[in-house]
Amino acid sequence: MDLKRVLVTGGCGFIGSNFIHYLLENTDYEIINLDALTYAGNTENLVDIDRDPRYRFVHGRIEDADLVTGLCSRVDAIVNFAAESHVDRSISHADPFITTNVLGTQVLLDAARSSERLRCFLHISTDEVYGSLGPSEAPFKESDPLLPNSPYAASKASSDLIVRAASKTHGLPVIITRCSNNYGPYQFPEKLIPLTLINALERRPLPVYGDGENIRDWIYVKDHCEGILTVLEHGREGEIYNLGGECELTNLRVVKTILAALNRPESLITFVRDRPGHDRRYAMDIDKVRQELGWRPKTDFASGISQTIDWYRTHESWWRRIISGSYRDYYRLQYGRYPEAVL
Ligand code: NAD
Ligand code: DAU
Repeated sequence: MDLKRVLVTGGCGFIGSNFIHYLLENTDYEIINLDALTYAGNTENLVDIDRDPRYRFVHGRIEDADLVTGLCSRVDAIVNFAAESHVDRSISHADPFITTNVLGTQVLLDAARSSERLRCFLHISTDEVYGSLGPSEAPFKESDPLLPNSPYAASKASSDLIVRAASKTHGLPVIITRCSNNYGPYQFPEKLIPLTLINALERRPLPVYGDGENIRDWIYVKDHCEGILTVLEHGREGEIYNLGGECELTNLRVVKTILAALNRPESLITFVRDRPGHDRRYAMDIDKVRQELGWRPKTDFASGISQTIDWYRTHESWWRRIISGSYRDYYRLQYGRYPEAVL
């Protein structure tokens, strides 16, 4: 697909900011980044490209119908990352998950429908919509039923369904990708890998939920970005594509790998109360995207985790600003204001 300008929503978060860097390095697209700057949005993630003439930041929410209608009329494609993304937060307070992930997606879909220019609405979803696997069950396929277990997963599954409905009912050119657990630079330190890494660097206890034997399929974020771009450019309209790292590891194994790499004792591991409704195992069958589009993850865990550890070691000021809370003022302090909410 020939694209000139892409709207990335949620581009100040973990995967969105990696994706914007990836697009600037690997395409000649112009990028508009719409982000609400919730606690998870950090303008510092994109400070190095802030003055790139191909990049434009717009501060606003995907639920703002007037704003997103204006933006959709100016772009060829949307990649919708904007979401509340943390399972534990959804267990304490589900409301923002419904507002952004469900209502926000619907507003964005309606805006996309009103655009004469738009050719692809790519919705970024997750393996969590499929629920949990037993130890010997086959990995999730795109045709599996949606059986979400957390409020977060339920909100993402709901958004997948309304994206599907926009395609079936209104003919909107949509594609959905569902990916497994990402790790890498710029991940907010509420998630297992950055939390463990920072606590280990600081010689603080590492909380492990339950027995630590839950399994996740880990993918290096750059591989996910490459997968998204492949689907955006070559995927078939109306389809769903699983993306994953083909790297199933227990949480304990992940934590012990990080401790060993940092030369810290396993006595830092502290078992804590389990997450309610904690999914036991995720694993993705990625045959469809491999066979149809030729994409596969390239980074093995040993290499990905070592690059991630290096990044957190060399970007101590980045995570210290998050811990202190001062990251939230980064843009205003840098430029004296927030950017205009309109183009
Ligand atoms: P994140 O929490 O790091 O970032 C989310 C971004 O969205 C933030 O910049 C936030 O400010 C922005 N945002 C939140 N609500 C918004 C709203 N109403 N309007 C505009 N912007 C808003 O999330 P992430 O880990 O980068 O995940 C990005 C997407 O990928 C999500 O849709 C998530 O469900 C999906 N996903 C994540 C993973 C993972 O392992 N992190 C795996 C598969 C899929
Ligand atoms: O699978 C994809 C999903 O991965 C994404 O859709 C979500 O947005 C993303 O947050 C992530 O969800 P998880 O719940 O799998 O990620 P998290 O890093 O929160 O937890 C990973 C595993 O580690 C999970 O089994 C819970 C456990 N855990 C987590 C934390 C934060 C711990 O044992 N201790 C912790 O402190």
